[in-house]
Amino acid sequence: MKLISIAGARPNFMKLASIADAIENYNVNKPSYFTKAIDHIIVHTGQHYDNKMSKSFFEDLGIPKPSINLEVGSGTHAVQTAEIMKRFEKVLLQETPDVLLVVGDVNSTIACTLVAAKIQYPEGHHLKRPIIVHVEAGLRSFDREMPEEINRILTDSLSDHLFITEESATINLQKEGCAPEKIHFVGNVMIDTLKNHLAKAKRSKLLDELGVTAPFGLVTLHRPSNVDQPGLLKSLIECLVDISRDLKLIFPVHPRTQHNLKKLGLTQLLQETDNIILLDPLGYLDFLNLINRAALILTDSGGIQEEATYLGVSCITLRENTERPVTITEGTNYLVGTDTGKIKKTVKLILEGEGKESKVPKFWDGKAGERIIKTLIEAFN
Ligand code: UD1
Repeated sequence: MKLISIAGARPNFMKLASIADAIENYNVNKPSYFTKAIDHIIVHTGQHYDNKMSKSFFEDLGIPKPSINLEVGSGTHAVQTAEIMKRFEKVLLQETPDVLLVVGDVNSTIACTLVAAKIQYPEGHHLKRPIIVHVEAGLRSFDREMPEEINRILTDSLSDHLFITEESATINLQKEGCAPEKIHFVGNVMIDTLKNHLAKAKRSKLLDELGVTAPFGLVTLHRPSNVDQPGLLKSLIECLVDISRDLKLIFPVHPRTQHNLKKLGLTQLLQETDNIILLDPLGYLDFLNLINRAALILTDSGGIQEEATYLGVSCITLRENTERPVTITEGTNYLVGTDTGKIKKTVKLILEGEGKESKVPKFWDGKAGERIIKTLIEAFN
């Protein structure tokens, strides 16, 4: 089986790491000499290209170097998606893989899926097009203003196998008319990677280097809905300054947010606030250690809600919706939106020890990648 997997933007890399490991394990331990190995080709679209947003993750996670880099870089949604499509079509026609595997919900995910769904392999090939596999399928925020929601809906509707992380995804997919036999509940590949790297992450020296010994809160903000609106971004930053009077905050800043903070003159306010530590984006291991050690997390990320749930760390999500409801019903997540009064109240509640009980959701056990590869091998034979 020849399988192309797509790496595009930062949140893809930890998911791909688990898939790459599972393929390698399969190739080494495959049941019999006669069973063919999986030929795994990683294609990086270049959506994220900085060392801090991309290369360091491949190093920290030991992901094989991509064989092909499409080097698309940044652009508007249309430009970025179209460039990936143009460049990926050539790769697909040249490599004609049996399987295209995409993860998550970024522009690279939908761009490559759309190419694969419409491609026609040359005559004589045993397939008309690759089998399309979506890992982390079926999540829905029901907010079509989120670019990721559009990417999720379209990717799912074009995929042949949908691997899901939580039960809500089955309901969402079936409501959209997806055949039940396409859906496979396998767990969460991002948690596979977390489990595999937690011991190493705990050896991070970052907190020592920063001189942080007291409890701290970890902050991330990068959603366009929060950081591209000047008024809202300003009120969130002022809220962080208020919170920092009671709790030290560590805030690794995404490039989009860095840019907007600078434009609004807010970088200086943050730099001048004693109890807030501003950092550039961090590598996987340093960041995972911060999640694990934080007293609480303030974030608008999707994946961090899940990582915090797995680690039992309270997570205050600064969004009006989440596509990952199990992090609320079973996990440590509080969906508070952007009302600064509510945010501060929730911080206080957690710091007073009134945080909620949580448990690790079903199948978040480190074996999702293995289940995916097993399912694909069975489907393929
Ligand atoms: C993308 C994903 C989002 C994900 C996020 C994680 C989509 C629609 N969005 O958003 O789901 O949560 O990644 O980071 O795919 N930039 C750099 N260096 C880089 C990459 C980007 O400086 O390596 C800057 C550029 O100025 C760029 C901006 O960040 O314009 C935004 O990057 P982009 O890939 O367009 O979207 P993200 O906001 O990162």
